[in-house]
Amino acid sequence: MGKPLRVGMCGLGTVAQGVLNVLRDNHDAITQRAGREIQLTQIASRSLKAGVDLGSAEFCTDVLALSRRDDLDVVVELIGGEETALEIVRNALRNGTSVVTGNKAIMALHGNELVELAREQGCSLGFEAAVAGAIPIIAALTRSLAGNQVGWLAGIINGTSNFILTAMTEEGQNFQDALEEAQRLGYAEADPTVDVDGIDAAHKLTILAALAFDMGFRFSDVYTEGISGVTAEDIEYADQLGYRIKHLGITRRTEAGVEARVHPTLVPKRQLIANINGVMNAVLVQGNAAGPTLFCGAGAGDRPSASAVIADLVEMARGIAFLPVKTPNVSPPMLAVEDTQSAFYLRIPSLDQPGVFAKVAGLLSERDISIEAAIQREQAIDTTSQQAWVPIIILTHVVNERVMNDAVAAVQSLPEVVGQITRLRVDQLTDG
Ligand code: HSE
Repeated sequence: MGKPLRVGMCGLGTVAQGVLNVLRDNHDAITQRAGREIQLTQIASRSLKAGVDLGSAEFCTDVLALSRRDDLDVVVELIGGEETALEIVRNALRNGTSVVTGNKAIMALHGNELVELAREQGCSLGFEAAVAGAIPIIAALTRSLAGNQVGWLAGIINGTSNFILTAMTEEGQNFQDALEEAQRLGYAEADPTVDVDGIDAAHKLTILAALAFDMGFRFSDVYTEGISGVTAEDIEYADQLGYRIKHLGITRRTEAGVEARVHPTLVPKRQLIANINGVMNAVLVQGNAAGPTLFCGAGAGDRPSASAVIADLVEMARGIAFLPVKTPNVSPPMLAVEDTQSAFYLRIPSLDQPGVFAKVAGLLSERDISIEAAIQREQAIDTTSQQAWVPIIILTHVVNERVMNDAVAAVQSLPEVVGQITRLRVDQLTDG
């Protein structure tokens, strides 16, 4: 057995407590695999939580002081947030100490700087826990699938959004109740708008795109839309058409550039990923050698995230100095979402009068948008105007998004359209 790997951990929240517990519960197996003991010698957190067993670690309340210590091999950053977390990681790397972080925000926003700093200092920088909790997707993209050119990947990478959409789909639960339950279970971020507005997923997609396409971290180029506009009605119509609504991060390499977008998406029910429910995450990767591979598992929670943190520590203990991502030497153009291609689901609230559907179909066909399926539901009465109206539901074939925007604007301005049109993207998640 070699000398112990001396680890200092910043944070004592959900994931950090998971690390303490899993390191203790699986001590012998982890030591055996790492070839030496992973010794948690220092823990820093603003306050010491009652009932948490710190083992033999020394405790202090100054996380920045811990990050500057020179008697550590690795600093684990698990405090979350941005400013202080970034300072911790910078301090440690500048000090020549390797870092493990679960912080997707700092990797997405400052990953290029941090990777470069780690490279200059000859340090390892592990962030397996930053994306999709327990799923070893960083290892998969950088090692197991390293022989592939990735064409695209699509992932359910925000457990809270998946939990809410699942509860709305399966239990008819409303948005707020489902969100509160996710918060109670410890899945949601401190500010849950980061989850439901898609920002957390955009952070994670930034990291996945950087790895899949060797192009650095480009968060500001990721199109981001959350789940707050998804209604129980749309979930039901999607179901009737053979689809589930999932919040997906999708990145794809095309001849024109790389697209990266996060938004609710209709996915065929027959796709395995459409059946990944609750807080589970999944990432589907299309490699040109491997074909499609689907990775799924718990996307959040104490022990699942701890599993990913410890995987990085074991690698470091084995003496494998690693940076999962290289400083990019390519900078492919990023496509604006308007320049991407999708099929679309439209829900058009319109007056129940003869010829409305024909008018809508005409405006679509003028723009070469072909309709794959349509349903028209029973009449409802608008309480303000007392007029009879019906939702027209249309599923289109694949079309350029700019053309679809133009078509939606034209349909919206028809006098028979009595409410805001809902427009959601549809993806078959196949190569064809
Ligand atoms: N809030 C995140 C989620 C936690 O819901 O997926 C894991 O990053």
